[in-house]
Amino acid sequence: MVTRHETLIKGSLVYLRPYETDDARALLDLRVRNADFFGPFEPRPVVEPPKTIEDQRRAIEQMMKQAARDASYSFGIFACDNDRLVGQIRLTQIFRGALQRAIVGYFVDEAENRKGYATEALRLAIRIAFKELGLHRVEAGAMPRNIASNRVLVKAGMRPEGYAPRYLQINGEWEDHNLFGLTAEEFTQD
Ligand SMILES: CC(C)(COP(=O)(O)OP(=O)(O)OC[C@H]1O[C@@H](n2cnc3c(N)ncnc32)[C@H](O)[C@@H]1OP(=O)(O)O)[C@@H](O)C(=O)NCCC(=O)NCCS
Repeated sequence: MVTRHETLIKGSLVYLRPYETDDARALLDLRVRNADFFGPFEPRPVVEPPKTIEDQRRAIEQMMKQAARDASYSFGIFACDNDRLVGQIRLTQIFRGALQRAIVGYFVDEAENRKGYATEALRLAIRIAFKELGLHRVEAGAMPRNIASNRVLVKAGMRPEGYAPRYLQINGEWEDHNLFGLTAEEFTQD
């Protein structure tokens, strides 16, 4: 379990922690106040997004079950200075077998942008993927116009791998994406 290795997931600005059901209010508030900011960059949800704290609690329980099944790992991004929830990062679509891959996705509260939180969170998530989960490959994609996300991916050390036209349906449109990848052999952090 990732939670046993707290030292692996603490940085200087932020730390990552798997959600607990008590995070429901903070996560719901974060998503509600950023709905317009995140909307243009997110796939439409398959199921209705949580609207109440009870819904959000159930959604967190689902994330816990997905982690227990080794299907995906979801972390809150918390600021080191005062432990507030500032964003989320997930290692999803884990595929074991001969691929050993996760796809990483994230968001950070608009009010907390440009403080380096996403970059550090991504570095920490990459470390978890390779050192803790024993994966061989981490992948990510970003729309070319999502300047901040492309910058985060490059700064965190992900390697550009190409350009995929009409790669992902975002907000109802098939959007081109820049693709990024990293394999365990390239991972140079401690
Ligand atoms: C992308 C996102 C996670 C970045 O979070 P963040 O904590 O602000 O990221 P960081 O502070 O670590 O780094 C952001 C980088 O992008 C740059 N940046 C941010 N907004 C920018 C903009 N509008 N134009 C140009 N550069 C921008 C910052 O200057 C910084 O680069 P620098 O250190 O070279 O100056 C956040 O904006 C977000 O949640 N966006 C909506 C959801 C999303 O796009 N998720 C990713 C989907 S692929």
